[in-house]
Amino acid sequence: MSSVMVKEGIYWVGVVDWNLREFHGYSTLRGTTYNAYLVLDEKVVLFDTVKEEFWEQLLANISKIIDPKRIDWIVVNHVEMDHSGALPKLVELVKPEKVICSEKGKEALIKHFHREDWPFHVVKSGEELSLGKRRVRFFETRMLHWPDSMLSYLVEDKVLISQDAFGQHYATSKRFDDEVEEAYLMEEAAKYFANILMPYSGLVKRLIEQLEGLGLPIEIIAPDHGVIWRNPIKIIEAYRKWSQAKKVPKVLVVYDTMWHSTEKMALAIAQGVMDEGVECKVANLRLSHRSEVIAEILDAKAIAIGSPTLNNGVLPSVADFLSYMKGLRPNDLIGLAFGSYGWSGESVDIIKRELQSMKVQLIHEGIKVNFVPSEEDLKKCRELGKVLASQVKGLT
Ligand code: FEO
Repeated sequence: MSSVMVKEGIYWVGVVDWNLREFHGYSTLRGTTYNAYLVLDEKVVLFDTVKEEFWEQLLANISKIIDPKRIDWIVVNHVEMDHSGALPKLVELVKPEKVICSEKGKEALIKHFHREDWPFHVVKSGEELSLGKRRVRFFETRMLHWPDSMLSYLVEDKVLISQDAFGQHYATSKRFDDEVEEAYLMEEAAKYFANILMPYSGLVKRLIEQLEGLGLPIEIIAPDHGVIWRNPIKIIEAYRKWSQAKKVPKVLVVYDTMWHSTEKMALAIAQGVMDEGVECKVANLRLSHRSEVIAEILDAKAIAIGSPTLNNGVLPSVADFLSYMKGLRPNDLIGLAFGSYGWSGESVDIIKRELQSMKVQLIHEGIKVNFVPSEEDLKKCRELGKVLASQVKGLT
């Protein structure tokens, strides 16, 4: 994939990683891209780099536009190594006049690459630098999603280079949002938000308000992953909705099972939900990746989690999911715990405890079934599904 013009004088010079399938616990079924942007002005500026292993492709893409040695400044919006991995080789080759970053960015770069001699230029939030005909304004976005993170806004071009924010793990030969299938794009954008940004929803909400408060016109949002938004309002509105935990009446039933008893309970709960005309998603954690299930939480109002008891605990897949979910701090959920057991039966209480620690409001003490559920047990599960559904409708 070669370079692409984003706007006059602004080029995408990133790389497509078709084969990435895992990103620290996140399943990236459609691969990803690492976007870097080259701006030609009196100063030639590169915004972000790529993973180290793609260094040569980055260089080739830049070389199609300009001799890389003509780069004056390199802006590091975010230090995570999918964007800074190629930086040491690039700095060595280019010998830039400035490596521009936030204060936290400088600290993190030194701790990553141990090069205090790089020509760091620390910028503060709101600070502007002139590139010649155009200016770039920087906005720190601490903890979105690292302490060093910042956005770069090209004032005259009305282009926001947004690092991870508004990104998607979506490998495609197309570069713009209006060139790809919208359903896939929004699915990947939602999955990205759920798995990376959900814990910082409050900060996302404030960032959108801050950008709107400044009255900055934004014609293009150029993130560091996936396609570039030529229709930024679509992703801004989606982020507004996701960050405010605006939900639909939907119940997520998540479980793992040993001999299908907990599965029978899960399906009976789901049946009860559907009997009430409420949307339901069912996920067996042995078959569905945690990061896909988490994406369903973005707009679900309720979650039922089930596990049989194994060695006085829950099944490993359920423990994994609970731990992952807890870290992502979903908001405003009601919940239910369920599961089968043979003799000791701790799983339901463990799930309840975990859900309570996530401030999920439990609708019931939880349902346990000894060995294999009877018709009567399954009826109770269906009834609990109906209660979940009616409470979800009541929250609408
Ligand atoms: Fe795409 Fe936080 O790195």
